[in-house]
Amino acid sequence: MPALEEMTLDTPSPKSAAPLRAFEDIKPPIIFDELQNGVLGQNKALRFVSVAIYKHTTGKVPGNLLMIGNSGTGKTTVMNNIQRLYNEVPEYEPFRAVTIINANLLVDIDRMEFRPDRLLQAVEQRARAIAGHHPSPEDLKRAIERATICIDEIDKMAAVVAGKPNAIGVVLQQGLLTLMEGERVAYPLHAWVDGEEKQVTLDINTGRMMFICGGAFEGLYDQVYNRVLKPGSGEKLKTQTIRTAEGKVKMVTTFNLGDFLKPKDLFDFGMVPQFMARFENTVLLNDLPIKVLREILLKSQESPYLRSKRFFEVMNIELEIEELAASLIAEAAAKDSRTGARALRPIFTEIVNPFEFDPDSGDTMQSAEGGSQKLTVTADMVRRVIR
Ligand SMILES: Nc1ncnc2c1ncn2[C@@H]1O[C@H](COP(=O)(O)OP(=O)(O)OP(=O)(O)O)[C@@H](O)[C@H]1O
Ligand SMILES: [Mg+2]
Repeated sequence: MPALEEMTLDTPSPKSAAPLRAFEDIKPPIIFDELQNGVLGQNKALRFVSVAIYKHTTGKVPGNLLMIGNSGTGKTTVMNNIQRLYNEVPEYEPFRAVTIINANLLVDIDRMEFRPDRLLQAVEQRARAIAGHHPSPEDLKRAIERATICIDEIDKMAAVVAGKPNAIGVVLQQGLLTLMEGERVAYPLHAWVDGEEKQVTLDINTGRMMFICGGAFEGLYDQVYNRVLKPGSGEKLKTQTIRTAEGKVKMVTTFNLGDFLKPKDLFDFGMVPQFMARFENTVLLNDLPIKVLREILLKSQESPYLRSKRFFEVMNIELEIEELAASLIAEAAAKDSRTGARALRPIFTEIVNPFEFDPDSGDTMQSAEGGSQKLTVTADMVRRVIR
């Protein structure tokens, strides 16, 4: 295990023309801006993630994070963007062993065992990509110990599922908590020693890995909601006035988990208290407001609109969308609070599908400059689908 000083001073060798910054100079706001290119409307969560990454890359023990958010609010998207960030920022090359794995893959249900080797195998794959052609055991050990581990669907590994004890969940949480505390794991792999590839056993210290776990914790919403609504709970939901895309004013009562969540709620949900204690922060992802859904529809990296636009370009057709049409789609998607931003795609697809088959089937095709054509998604087209 290299000393702390050794790790922080070990800046990557320059490859491109631009001089590489020291890790200390890539401050949390810079990391935040990078992450924001791919994750919209979750600034609070991204601030925590940015600080954790800063600590990790500067050799401090990183704060592990637990992300809780409804389906389709961006938990997996955050993880993918952490991976993208490490890949795209040249200085972060030594930290590119970022692994995203589902919690259920880390246990063997038949044998009731935690399987850290499966995690390390996934990390090893990534570590090999950065350790070069003929990696020495030290190269691999260094890359593996700097890994960022994103464990998705952690809520499926609660100690209680559907009211019944779920022993495997306890096995997973206990196994993980030991790793997160910093454990030494003997891990066999192949590496190059004296010009030969040999099987070696690495002594991996997990203490400086960064762990980010995420889950929808679906029952948690109902559980806390019911606790709050119980007569005599002393808590009250908030009512807000909103204006719809069509200009109507409505009163809506919203339940925001973050306003009410207490640690005990997580224990009651089935999270082992000692496991929860390994997280520096529990971060709640917002339900995405209509404004953000609209932005995800139009501009995100996986924007259904941009994807379709690229498709129509192949046919020399320029796809456009009316302002109101985009707002109506976002509003329709927001009605389905269980699927979040995921709801955008099916709605949008239903609207454009007939035109992908036959662009002339609508009445909004126009000739544009240079012999191409323009197809506009109008509010009327949207209304026909969402009614
Ligand atoms: N905050 C966000 N910013 C940008 N895109 C988002 C965001 N949230 C969701 N999306 C888009 O919605 C889709 C689903 O998001 P994602 O997979 O991150 O949801 P999730 O929170 O992991 O949900 P689940 O609990 O169901 O796994 C993705 O295609 C993603 O592009
Ligand atoms: Mg997900």
